[in-house]
Order: sequence, then C-alpha cells, then structure tokens
Amino acid sequence: MSEKLFIFDTTLRDGEQVPGCQLNTIEKIEIAKSLETLGVDIIEAGFPISSPGDFNSVVEISKAVTWPTICALTRAVEKDIDVAAEALKYAKRKRIHTGIGTSTYHIQYKFNSTQAEILERAIACTKYAKRYVDDVEFYCEDAGRTDNEYLARVVEAVIQAGATVVNIPDTTGYCLPSEYGEKIRYLFEHVKGIEKAVISTHCHNDLGMATANTINGILNGARQAEVTINGIGERAGNTSLEEVAMILKSHKEIGISTNINTQKIFPLSRQVSSLMNMPVQPNKAIVGRNAFAHSSGIHQDGVLKNVQTYEIINPQDVGIDENNIALTARSGHAALKHRLQVLGVELSPEKLDMVYEEFLKLADKKKDIHDDDILMLAGKDRSEMQRIRLEYLQVTSGVGVRPVASIGLNIAGEKFEAAASGNGPVDAAIKALKQIIRRTMTIQEFLIQAINKGSDDMGKVHMQVEHEGVNYYGFSANTDIIAASVEAYIDAINKFVK
Ligand code: KIV
Ligand code: ZN
Repeated sequence: MSEKLFIFDTTLRDGEQVPGCQLNTIEKIEIAKSLETLGVDIIEAGFPISSPGDFNSVVEISKAVTWPTICALTRAVEKDIDVAAEALKYAKRKRIHTGIGTSTYHIQYKFNSTQAEILERAIACTKYAKRYVDDVEFYCEDAGRTDNEYLARVVEAVIQAGATVVNIPDTTGYCLPSEYGEKIRYLFEHVKGIEKAVISTHCHNDLGMATANTINGILNGARQAEVTINGIGERAGNTSLEEVAMILKSHKEIGISTNINTQKIFPLSRQVSSLMNMPVQPNKAIVGRNAFAHSSGIHQDGVLKNVQTYEIINPQDVGIDENNIALTARSGHAALKHRLQVLGVELSPEKLDMVYEEFLKLADKKKDIHDDDILMLAGKDRSEMQRIRLEYLQVTSGVGVRPVASIGLNIAGEKFEAAASGNGPVDAAIKALKQIIRRTMTIQEFLIQAINKGSDDMGKVHMQVEHEGVNYYGFSANTDIIAASVEAYIDAINKFVK
C-alpha cells in the first residue's frame, strides 16, 4: 500500500499573483470546480483581507465546491484571521493558513524584531486561528533561508499550539534540492510531536529547482505538496502540480500516491492558460505543446517501432487526445465543440455559434488551427461587453512613407472617428485613438508574442497602461498584430473608463 501525499493547490492564491493574469470570481469558481474534478485535496482560494474581490472569491468557491478543503491565507494578524474565518463560513471543510517570516532577513528587516518575539507571534496566531477552525496550517515564510535550529523551535511550538499542518516554504527558490531535503529531515529528527502534524512543501522556482526540491521534501517525510497548475506564480512561479503528480505516478518505487485523476491534467492546464491569458511554454514538462512531439527522424523511427523507446508517459494518461480531429475551414460545429470540450471549455449554444463564426474567419486566413488559437477565440467574446469597442482600423505603412491610421470607436453605443500619423503603425493608431479618448495614459509594457508558428499565426498582445498612478492590463489576440495592439490598449482602457 502506498502512502498518500496531500495535494494543496494554490493556483488561485499564489498562482494568481502573476501581474496581468488576475481572474474574476466567476473564472475562479470555474477553475475551483475543475480542481475538484482533478482530485486535489485542498484548494487555497485566496487571501481574504487583501481585497473585497479575494474575500468574495473565497466565499463563492466555498459554496461551489464540495470535497476539497477550502483554505484561506492570512498574516499573523488577528484581523486577517477574523476576516478569513468569515470568508470560509460556507466551506464544508475549512482551513486557515496563517504564518510569519522566520528567516533573519524577515525578522530583522521586515519586522525589525527578534527570534523570541516572532516565536511568540507564531504561537499566538496559531491559537487565535484555532478558535475558528480545527484545521490550522502554519507557514514559516522564507523557511528555505531560516536556520534549521530556530526553524525546528518554531515548528515544535506551533504544533503544540494546535497547528495540524506546518508549511516549510522556500519562498525565494534559493535552496538546493539536497539542502531542502535535509531541512525536512532535520525537522523530523529534531521536532518533538512532529507526528501530530503534516509537513508541507511550498517551493518557488527562481533557480528552476522547485519540483526537485518538492520531491526531495517528500522523500524526506513531507506529506503535503503546495503546487499550481502549469507552475504559475509570482516571478519564476511555483512547483507544478502536473510534474509532482506524474513523477509519483511514473516512479512507483517511491511508494507515494496522490488522488489526482491525471487524465484531467491537460484540459485543466489549457483552461488555466486561457482564463489567465498566459501561454504554456511549448517545452514545459507534461503539458507543453512539444512535450510529446517527436520531431527528429531518429526519435520518430524509434517511437514507431516501440513507443517506449522515447516516451516515458502515455500522453493519454495526462488527457492529451491523440486522435485530435484536425480543424480546418471545413470542420463543423460538432468538431469545434468536441475540441473545446477536450480543452475544458463548455460554451452555451449561442456562444458556440459566435466562436464558430470567428473560427471560420480565422480558418480562412490560417491553414492549421491549433488548440491555442481555439482557446483565444473562445475567450474573445468577453470583449463584447466592453464599453469601448473597436469598430474599424485602417493603417497605411511601409518603407519610405509616414504611417497613417484612421480609427472608428464605439463608446457606449456612440460612434467616433479620428486619424493620425505616427513613427510606426501602432504609434499612428494609438495617436488616433487618443484623439478620441482624451485621458492621460502611458504604455508601460507592450509585449507581442506569436502563438504557434508560421507567418499566418495569431499574435498575442499584453499591454500595461498607466493611468493616474495605477497600472491596468490589457490583452488581445489577432492575426493582425496592429489590430491586436490597439485592441489590447482598448482592453486596458476599459478597465478604468466606466
Ligand atoms: O512563498 C511563500 O512563502 C508563501 C507563503 C505566504 C505561504 O506563499
Ligand atoms: Zn509562495
């Protein structure tokens, strides 16, 4: 019998901190339900004190989800804990995740405090959270750089105070795998009463070692792993759920298993990528577009003779449907619907009609329609409800001519037109747009990326626009990158023009 590893998913809390990738409550509920179907044990649904939106998401996810424990994050502050407890009111199983920084960096520079005082606060916040819930998880922030002897004292004290789970985050992603594994082992060897709690890993990927560190933590006794779908998260991200689940499934000799229904991994990966407008790196382990693509002749030959020559995972085990129906301009509604379902997207019949029309237009311009293209189209109809919409855009540019753009906007039903020249086609179009929308706004970041390959590909544009000291994010995708840029700009403006 293998031992069980609890999967604690923090896509909706740590993962959602990626700039420009924030989700609304409805999108978070969709993901939470998919996480439930995937089989995660705990869903960290948010940090309720941080914003009314986060509070509301924790409330709504608690109502929508049945089996997984719903967890809410707090600092070691009573008010945070009060608000988290209130947000968790409807959860069938609930957990408060509280904690404080334990490394010298945090104690001295962040808190201007001492080890003794931090220890007191750790005990106090654990006891305070216990007034509300039985299941309290304590995190020792920056445990990766915390001296092991002090860390052991904190872990022992919070377990005595009632913590049921103790999280050992490598917050900065600094530890080497051997060092992180030894840290977990040290705790098992030095903390009295450690068997009363579950020890959890929480590794960041700043040096590309998050998964290796997590696995080493597990090999040394941790029985909960904190992970995100596609490894998303601030900076270089968190440990990927799919990597941990598939490592444990592939290496049976480790003797540890999870509840994850691995066939749901790929659709959920694409659902998260699409809702967060965050492409999955093509060579990403398990879920990248190329993860199972054998392009070299030698590999293809080997795979055709026996798939095990170069493939250690059956793509179907992670939900990749190899019998993909190739979508072309001749594909019908049913084929598109099937593909969207495989990708985890359910649309109403009306929405499907709209997406199908867009699909046909794209299929006229582009030979191969990839999953990412389809997901873009499925996400696009969100813009239909925007206050400012692009009616038309005409741009003249080339070598030896000054680019000129004319633009038509529909603002809350009223039509406006303007024209301008600029030092490039995007500059001309944006100058024309600014003649209509006379606000002070500056583009802080402007990123154009191809989705697949080929000159007929769609370009994705992420834009960060500053208005009155606040940054707003805009996104669009289009085969015309000038149009995508203007649409992304409008998407950002729609977030502050009410
Ligand atoms: O990385 C970290 O230390 C965290 C804690 C707040 C759990 O995300
Ligand atoms: Zn973290």
